[in-house]
Amino acid sequence: MAFPFPILTAEEAADLIAHGATIGFSGFTPAGAAKAIPKALGEKAKREHAAGRDFKVTVLTGASTGRSLDGALAAAEAISFRIPYQSDPTLRKQINSGQVRFADMHLSQVPQVVRYGFLGPVHWAVAEACDLTAGGGVVLTTSVGASNTYLRLAKRVLIELNARHPPYLLGLHDLFEPKDPPARQEIPVYHVTDRIGSPICLVDPNKIAGVVLTDLEDENGAFDEPTLVTDKIGHHVADFLAGEMWDGRIPPRFLPLQSGVGNIANAVLSAMGQNREIPDFEMYTEVLQDSVIPLLESGRCRCASTCALTLSPAAMRHVIANLDFFKGQVVLRPQEVSNSPEVVRRLGVVSMNTAIEVDLGGNVNSTHVMGKTMMNGIGGSGDFTRNAYLSMFSCPSTAKGGKISAIVPLASHMDHSEHSVQVIVTEQGVADLRGKDPHERAQLIINNCAHPDYREQLRDYLKMTKSGHEPLSLSLGLAMHRQFLRHGDMRHIDWEEFQ
Ligand code: COA
Repeated sequence: MAFPFPILTAEEAADLIAHGATIGFSGFTPAGAAKAIPKALGEKAKREHAAGRDFKVTVLTGASTGRSLDGALAAAEAISFRIPYQSDPTLRKQINSGQVRFADMHLSQVPQVVRYGFLGPVHWAVAEACDLTAGGGVVLTTSVGASNTYLRLAKRVLIELNARHPPYLLGLHDLFEPKDPPARQEIPVYHVTDRIGSPICLVDPNKIAGVVLTDLEDENGAFDEPTLVTDKIGHHVADFLAGEMWDGRIPPRFLPLQSGVGNIANAVLSAMGQNREIPDFEMYTEVLQDSVIPLLESGRCRCASTCALTLSPAAMRHVIANLDFFKGQVVLRPQEVSNSPEVVRRLGVVSMNTAIEVDLGGNVNSTHVMGKTMMNGIGGSGDFTRNAYLSMFSCPSTAKGGKISAIVPLASHMDHSEHSVQVIVTEQGVADLRGKDPHERAQLIINNCAHPDYREQLRDYLKMTKSGHEPLSLSLGLAMHRQFLRHGDMRHIDWEEFQ
């Protein structure tokens, strides 16, 4: 049978999309993100702007994407509103200057919020596929994200058929979309790799406006080399979890791990793999990074459920060359399943995420520098932290060459509250906050996690906050931040100056 959908150039596809459209793009990290059409859409926006016409679109994705999507659209000033997470430098600047409206969302909630109609209609879904059947069967590529929901709900669909990813990725994905309340039932995942849905996404073929043929690599960046600090954090996390198991608080078979994104997360996973006291483990997570691939091959990581394969090009080529093996070990799920609070709590996931700053009460800021400047977003860290068997946050004890302490009296923005955060880890050590009252927590965080340059001044702050259940001074809580903004360094604070 002849291919029933028009084959378009990326430019022709972009021309179909009008100013003001809401577009649900594939992509969860740069993995599986649409590339050719958003890039062409950026060029179209530039032409429209040059001709004196408005051209901006609302961009919905699974999470962050790559330079051809967020990068190209931001450079063309073509984004009016963006959810739910981003990590592109140009887009970040536009968000922080107020040029782009951005709503930071728990990733597990994105598909349902779109289904409920909270964000209005989705005019287009633009998704990358490695195969497409005449009946509208779409095999996604290296992530699922919210693509299945966008493809089902969008009025019209454009597919990027990417030859770089072979059609035999078929079988890696497990697509499941829960019904909405009041008909919602459980998500029946009882083990990390339970398959509960379909390997393909069925799209009404009448909605498919065209197919763009591409041959493009995912645009995942490389990781920084591990440092002494990230190595120390990794080993503290691994040693702590080994201790939890030996003390009987984690079962001997261990529990599934979730690990965040970035350099620290990568170092933590490497350390977990190296620690021989930790038995072979499973992962129930939203992103698999390079460090997990050798762990899967050696059997240290028995199997993994994820939403995206965020791999360097070399690691991706290796996975494709050994796809039969990896299909047996890895399931790619939609973000409302990979990050499902229900499943995370049922499986007893140990969550390991990264903080920008932690306050003495144990509240964590993962998103906003100095309380105002958006870094990336909360991502899936809230989905996992709030529902974890054991929730951990790690970060270096200082940032910007020691001028900023990651341990502060009061977090300047709060993503994860003291009620959800159980263990804090820096290169200095581990603060286990379980079963501690707020003043005990504060002491532990200072003694075990704060950098020595900051311990005394944090202790001085504590002395000034003796009364009350929380160690809080309303006037001095943000004094270390104010000191940084005034003097460029949080050290050597004169508390009197900020009274
Ligand atoms: N004040 C100012 N800047 C800070 C800071 C602080 N307290 N803490 C960190 N930073 C800066 C670092 O200096 C660095 O800046 P640079 O890019 O200019 O060098 C940047 O933040 C990244 O920090 P880094 O130490 O390299 O850690 P990372 O790459 O692991 O990223 C987060 C840390 C918190 C930004 C990142 O993990 C994130 O976005 N987390 C939220 C989402 C999430 O957890 N997702 C996973 C859920 S599954």
